[in-house]
Amino acid sequence: MRLRKVSYAPKLIAKHPERIMDIDKDTKVDVKDFFPKEQPLEVEIGAGKGQFSHTLAQRQPDKNHIAIERFDSVIVRALEKVLSDPLDNLFLVRMDAKHLENILDSNVVKTLYLNFSDPWPKARHAKRRLTHPDYLSLYKKILAKDGRIEFKTDNRHFFEYTLKTMNRAGMTFHFLSFDLHEDNPPKNIMTEFEEKHSKNGPIYKLTASFEEDEHEKDVSGFSESTRPAEL
Ligand SMILES: C[S@@+](CC[C@H](N)C(=O)[O-])C[C@H]1O[C@@H](n2cnc3c(N)ncnc32)[C@H](O)[C@@H]1O
Repeated sequence: MRLRKVSYAPKLIAKHPERIMDIDKDTKVDVKDFFPKEQPLEVEIGAGKGQFSHTLAQRQPDKNHIAIERFDSVIVRALEKVLSDPLDNLFLVRMDAKHLENILDSNVVKTLYLNFSDPWPKARHAKRRLTHPDYLSLYKKILAKDGRIEFKTDNRHFFEYTLKTMNRAGMTFHFLSFDLHEDNPPKNIMTEFEEKHSKNGPIYKLTASFEEDEHEKDVSGFSESTRPAEL
């Protein structure tokens, strides 16, 4: 994706510390403190222009939401959404997710959303994938004991890669779909990327956790014919 620079982004971000924070690798803050109410915490990483987190925060006023995005020219669009439709339970963070531990305590996140993360297809870039084992170790620290990761992508190879890394990390799968829109889940929130690209092919989704809970699994979309060979 080519990034169009938004020249006013740094100034607008600096003007609204009540809605957004710009975090470099050395900044340490507890983002939980930015919410007026103490509530269960949900985090989206790679939030882009913020449509998903903004809609989720509207639907779930009883939860606090953090949307993290690396580029100011992208997250400034999320900031504009929050400024025109303010929500006290959504806080934006401009940062690289590899510094997550600078803003979140251990065991605090109930749900971590990864929506259409960059697949980084070249092997030499594998460490940048947001489901690389290094990132999974990071998520394991910040997720609550019963916390879950929800991952959506349009990239079959990236989905298979993620099934493998999560499986090797000992994670439990609670939901798998190899064609999310065909399966038509009632609560699906479309992201900007999903709206633009889902007509080109299926959307893959999984929900997984580090807990060893065998109950309430929904693996109806995970048939033999669609199972990746090396799981
Ligand atoms: C393909 S876009 C998808 C955006 C949005 N989730 C959607 O579905 O419309 C992936 C986004 O993840 C962000 N991203 C990638 N790696 C990141 C990282 N390490 N930390 C924070 N954001 C990251 C990118 O800047 C980009 O905006």
